[in-house]
Amino acid sequence: MASGQGSNFEALVEACRRDDLQADVVLLAVNNADCGAVERAERLGITTELHDHRSHPNRDSLDQALVTSFRRAAIDLVVMAGWMRIVTPRLITAFPERLVNIHPSLLPSFKGLDGVGQALAAGVTLAGCTAHLVNEAVDGGRILVQAAVPVLPGDDHATLSRRIQVEEHRILPLAVALVAAAQG
Ligand code: GRF
Repeated sequence: MASGQGSNFEALVEACRRDDLQADVVLLAVNNADCGAVERAERLGITTELHDHRSHPNRDSLDQALVTSFRRAAIDLVVMAGWMRIVTPRLITAFPERLVNIHPSLLPSFKGLDGVGQALAAGVTLAGCTAHLVNEAVDGGRILVQAAVPVLPGDDHATLSRRIQVEEHRILPLAVALVAAAQG
């Protein structure tokens, strides 16, 4: 599931193709038709489905459409790879312990929107990212893998985001492998 550039989505596909991750990415779900993730999926030959939140009356309806689509595709594990919508119990309970999110902060610090901006505003000298299971508390599910990066003098949002994203691309496949191993 992606809403934006899709660099984490591509990192997952590449980890599978390198055999670093014993999995297949079978479907990309997006909520924005023109997001960068769609172009990546085309280039990588992965099927994309558009689930535009604007055509649903509420969050539950969107999540029901996602669940239906994931079940149809016989999907075992779902990754929110930059999904900028709050998800509901409809999706969470359909994939218990099998719904993973990537967040650009060292949780439990800086939950919610713009974790990178929050870290810069707080003046921390260590930032990072967290791959975690999703529950009903936003960015509050069980932590799977974290990586820390330094905040360097002169960093701005773009430079710190780039440093964090390198680590996101490394830890997200690790987190998926952990979840898959736990499922047997
Ligand atoms: C990542 O920074 C992730 O932590 C956050 O959204 C961003 C998605 O980036 N949840 P991308 O679309 O994978 O490039």
